[in-house]
Amino acid sequence: MSFALTDKYGRPLRDLRISVTDRCNFRCGYCMPKEVYGSDYPFLARSEILTFEEIERLARIFVTCGVQKLRVTGGEPLLRREIAALVEMLASLPGVLDIALTTNGALLATKAAALKAAGLRRITVSLDSIDPAVFGAMNGVGYPVARILSGIEAARRAGLDPLKINVVVRRGINDGTVVQTARYFHGSGCIVRFIEYMDVGSTNGWTMDQVVSGADIVKQLDAAMPLEAISPTYRGEVARRYRYRDGGGEIGIVTSVTQPFCRDCTRARLSSAGVLYTCLFATRGLDLGKMLRSQCSDDEIAFAIRTAWTGRQDRYSELRTASSSAEAKVEMSHIGG
Ligand code: GTP
Ligand code: 5AD
Ligand code: SF4
Ligand code: SF4
Repeated sequence: MSFALTDKYGRPLRDLRISVTDRCNFRCGYCMPKEVYGSDYPFLARSEILTFEEIERLARIFVTCGVQKLRVTGGEPLLRREIAALVEMLASLPGVLDIALTTNGALLATKAAALKAAGLRRITVSLDSIDPAVFGAMNGVGYPVARILSGIEAARRAGLDPLKINVVVRRGINDGTVVQTARYFHGSGCIVRFIEYMDVGSTNGWTMDQVVSGADIVKQLDAAMPLEAISPTYRGEVARRYRYRDGGGEIGIVTSVTQPFCRDCTRARLSSAGVLYTCLFATRGLDLGKMLRSQCSDDEIAFAIRTAWTGRQDRYSELRTASSSAEAKVEMSHIGG
């Protein structure tokens, strides 16, 4: 049975972001810097990672708690073998209205069609710059832009729509290619979203001076290709939307640093080991994986989720300047953004 479940600030639980692996074939400096994520990094063992059946069971329970929208993330979710089979299991759960996936696109060319056939609605591809040298440096492994573009093309051909492109903007690294990247996708139907660099986790050495504000990005883009603001597609949408005045499509700006959106945050995050986090910047989570594996019933797990959500007071981005927790925040690669 489904009923309204709200947290301390009246926010319902609507979205579940499910990480299916903590591994990635890229080493983006803002997420998995290679100095930290080297060959000896202690990634989760296979036995610690939830099986598809376990993920499906948890997702089913989350749906009874109000979740309507699922997003599959990683690390890099397409590294998980038979990922389309999981998508199929999740897409067919009654009550799931939307199912999307965020990927770095490296394996998309071979997997897009199977994902669509499995019931995936839409996809978001991270691509920080259309400039090959800038992109190669940012992904940490010299991965070529052209291969990501073939993945995006395969996703389009498969009918994954709308197709979104995520660009994390870092001062002095890719801010000089923002207009070029936008221009490449202008008129293509892809929605490029420029994201303020966030202080997620504890390994990326984030400082405020590396952040380019959403307002600055809009100013740059507007000067090159005039924009106008448009209204959100749904309440609590993370990206602020703009459209090109010449009809070339829309873009988004994610301003978690300069204009936080915690007030409408309806997102929960599940790590690949089954730990529930109620904020991207959480320091602690609720170990649902352990509950699953110690024979707890669905009702007991649902009760634990409801208790966690009703006690939720997270609004990290609104408090950022005031907070100075000594506890390590969960890493992006554990919860997929
Ligand atoms: P849509 O369903 O297409 O609206 O997806 P989305 O924009 O919510 O998801 P996506 O994974 O593309 O995230 C875009 C950027 O926003 C990423 O950098 C995320 O880390 C960030 N983001 C998503 N949700 C949150 C959130 O709840 N809080 C914060 N601070 N950032 C978020
Ligand atoms: N700040 C902003 N966005 C980030 N992402 C990963 N790390 C960060 C960060 N520190 C983005 C990825 C992906 C999305 C899920 O989150 O590029 O597109
Ligand atoms: Fe991998 Fe995405 Fe993190 Fe880059 S941002 S290291 S592609 S998980
Ligand atoms: Fe939600 Fe936490 Fe992001 Fe605020 S900082 S929008 S509460 S995930």
